[in-house]
Amino acid sequence: MKKVLITGGAGYIASHTNIELLKGEHELVLIDNFINSSAEALERVQELSGRSITFIKVDLLDSAALDSVFVQHPTIDSVIHFAALKAVGESVEKPLDYYTNNITGSLNLYSAMKKHDVRKIVFSSSATVYGDPDEIPVKEDAPIRATNPYGHTKAMMEQILMDTAKAEDWSVALLRYFNPVGAHDSGQIGEDPNYPNNLLPFVSQVAAGIREKVVIFGDDWDTPDGTGVRDYIHVTDLAKAHVKSLEKLANSSGIHIYNIGTGRGYSVLEMVKAFSEACGHKIPYEIGPRREGDIAEVTGNPAKAKTELGWQAELGLNEMVESAWKWQSQNPHGYNS
Ligand code: UFG
Repeated sequence: MKKVLITGGAGYIASHTNIELLKGEHELVLIDNFINSSAEALERVQELSGRSITFIKVDLLDSAALDSVFVQHPTIDSVIHFAALKAVGESVEKPLDYYTNNITGSLNLYSAMKKHDVRKIVFSSSATVYGDPDEIPVKEDAPIRATNPYGHTKAMMEQILMDTAKAEDWSVALLRYFNPVGAHDSGQIGEDPNYPNNLLPFVSQVAAGIREKVVIFGDDWDTPDGTGVRDYIHVTDLAKAHVKSLEKLANSSGIHIYNIGTGRGYSVLEMVKAFSEACGHKIPYEIGPRREGDIAEVTGNPAKAKTELGWQAELGLNEMVESAWKWQSQNPHGYNS
C-alpha cells in the first residue's frame, strides 16, 4: 500500500478524493486545521469506504508539527496538496492572510517534503490562474495572468513547484480545476461552506429555504442568455482525476499540467433551471449588478488530461445538480445538521 499525505484532508474536494483513493491501494494520512472543514466529514468518509484513515490536526504554518507528521510516517510516498484559503472576495480584502497562509504554508510543506525525500505531489490548482483567457476552451499553455490575490497565490504555488521539480527531480501534477460542484452519490458528503460564495452552494441553500433568493450577477454579459458561463465539473469526476494523477506520477518525473473540466459551459440561468428541476420547485431569483472581477465565460479544454492521464469527466449536469440537492436536503445545515 502506498501512503499518501493529504493536506486540507477534511475539505470538500479532499473528502471526495479520499473516497476514490480508498477504493484502491492507498493508505491515507490526512492533515487539516479545520478552519473551513469538519471532522464529521472524515467520520463519513470512513463509514462510506469501510476503511480507517490516520488523521492529525496540523496547520501548515506550524512547520514543527508538519515535520513531525513526516517523522511519524516515514513511508509517505506522495502528497496531494489541497489546503488553502480560497475565497476570491476575501483575498482582495485580506491579501496578507492569503499570501501568508497559502504561500508560507506551501513553502513549509515543500521544505518538509525535501527534508524527508518525498518527491511526488499533486497540486490543487485552479482555472483562476488564466484570468480572462483570450481563447476558450482554454488550453494549458495559455498565459498565466490571475487577477486577484487568491489567484496570484495559486499561480505562485504552481511556480514554486515547477522550479523545485526541475532542481530536485520531483514529479509534479498541477491540476487546474474549473468549477467543482455536486456531491457524493450517497448524499453523505458534500460542500459545507462557512458562507456560500459560489453559485451552486448558494442556489442549494435557496432551494432548501435557508436563503430567500438567488441574485444573478448580471444578465448583460456577452453570452447566449446574458448570464455568466462556466465549466462545471462534478466533484466525483474531479476526485478521480487525482487518483489518475498519482498513477501518472508513479511512472514519470517532471511537471504535468492538466485542465480538469468538461469542456462544456453552462450559464447561470441554465444552472438555476436545472437545479429547479432536481429539487422539484421553482428557485426564486433576481437579476442584480455584475460582481466585481467576474468574466463573461470560461471553459477549459480537457484533451490533455484525456490523452495523458486517461481521465475524462463522466458525469453531466443532471448528476451535478441532483447530487448537490441530495446532499443539501439530507444535510440542511451541512455537517452540523
Ligand atoms: N454567480 C451568480 N450569483 C451568485 C454566485 C455566482 O450569479 O450568487 C455567477 C457568477 O457571476 C459566475 C457564476 O455564477 O458567472 C459562477 O460563479 P462562482 O462564484 O460559482 O465561480 P467563479 O467562476 O467565479 O469562480 C470559481 C471559484 C474560483 C475558481 C474559479 C475557476 O470560486 O476559486 O471558479 O474557474 F478559481
